Amino acid sequence: MKENGLRVLVAGGAGFIGSNFIRYLLGARGDWKIVNVDKLTYAGNLANLEDVEGDDRYRFHRADICDAERIDAIVKEEEPDAIVNFAAETHVDRSIDDPALFLRTNILGTQVLLEAARKNGVARFLQISTDEVYGSLGPSGQFSEGSPLRPNSPYAASKTGADLLVRAYYKTYGLPAIITRCSNNYGPYQFPEKIIPFFVTLLQGNKPVPVYGDGMNVRDWIHVDDHSRAVEAVLLRGRPGEVYNVGGGNERTNIEITKLLLAAMGKPESLLKFVPDRPGHDRRYAIDDAKIRGELGVVPRVPFEEGIRATVRWYLENEPWWRAVQSGEYRSFYDRWYSRKGRA
Ligand code: NAD
Ligand code: DAU
Repeated sequence: MKENGLRVLVAGGAGFIGSNFIRYLLGARGDWKIVNVDKLTYAGNLANLEDVEGDDRYRFHRADICDAERIDAIVKEEEPDAIVNFAAETHVDRSIDDPALFLRTNILGTQVLLEAARKNGVARFLQISTDEVYGSLGPSGQFSEGSPLRPNSPYAASKTGADLLVRAYYKTYGLPAIITRCSNNYGPYQFPEKIIPFFVTLLQGNKPVPVYGDGMNVRDWIHVDDHSRAVEAVLLRGRPGEVYNVGGGNERTNIEITKLLLAAMGKPESLLKFVPDRPGHDRRYAIDDAKIRGELGVVPRVPFEEGIRATVRWYLENEPWWRAVQSGEYRSFYDRWYSRKGRA
């Protein structure tokens, strides 16, 4: 893939990882143009991108990736060299309550993007998938790219369905598509329903934090900037038709995470409360990232304890951001953006 003057269409760029990725690319790649296509669901927040909004290398379209006509028109208008698809319903607990929404966006929406890429000759399609497609591990072992796909939640099953469609578009139509499967991200601008920002915002109000089950479930944590660097490398140098795992090499139980947050915020351990488990709760994720390290030289850089401390600090210093999310006030951000820019 050429490195100069790339035009990248980012789907789902107003969410947690997509907005961090856009900010990262605008900083790292002076001559790239970024087009953000996002429906602005509850998880999409233009306040995440307020600092880049005035950058003339950045454009935003409010659109649903399931709307085939609209997506095709945007791709025709913007002529991207690459599409990177972050757009998805992403919260496992919500997928247990409303699986159909997850199938619609994550499977059908991905197919709409694939079709638009195919019809319009887009040179690269990057699907941002997840380690959850592999299911759950016991106390030992790691997920490699060849591990069987054994999703356990409706969310994970919908992401697996999307991955299989990406594979089919590569095999059937020769679409130059690549999949990344990353572990749990943390960092700024994460919607405060996911464990780290959820617990920080609760603890700030001295409220107890609900740890599911026995709290011994393990996740492999990676800073969102390390994920962005990995996606950039795969976009430029990954091989079409391949899957690349991305991991942080930081396996922690939920109890460890909770105690780290309590300590970082100077709160008592009595605020840790065990609550009934999430149905189908995956026990452990761990990533073998030898392929992306060996082929593309991608290595996570942010040391975990440092990254967590900086992340806690960010939420404490940006209380108006998450207060606006909690109150729903962030939903009016689009109207303000629209009246400033006058285009959707
Ligand atoms: P998020 O929930 O914060 O953001 C999702 C974004 O997608 C939002 O801006 C939302 O408005 C947008 N979106 C949802 N439905 C849409 C639709 N129909 N049309 C257009 N836009 C739509 O999610 P995130 O945590 O930033 O995750 C981004 C991607 O990375 C997802 O595909 C997720 O599966 C994957 N992923 C996330 C993690 C993680 O730890 N958060 C880890 C690995 C992979
Ligand atoms: O592994 C990558 C995945 O990580 C992404 O694909 C998903 O989009 C993302 O949401 C995340 O999924 P998890 O289910 O691992 O994230 P969550 O923050 O919801 O939960 C992390 C762990 O913390 C999990 O074991 C459940 C537990 N948990 C979560 C919440 C919200 C609790 O114990 N209490 C809680 O209140």
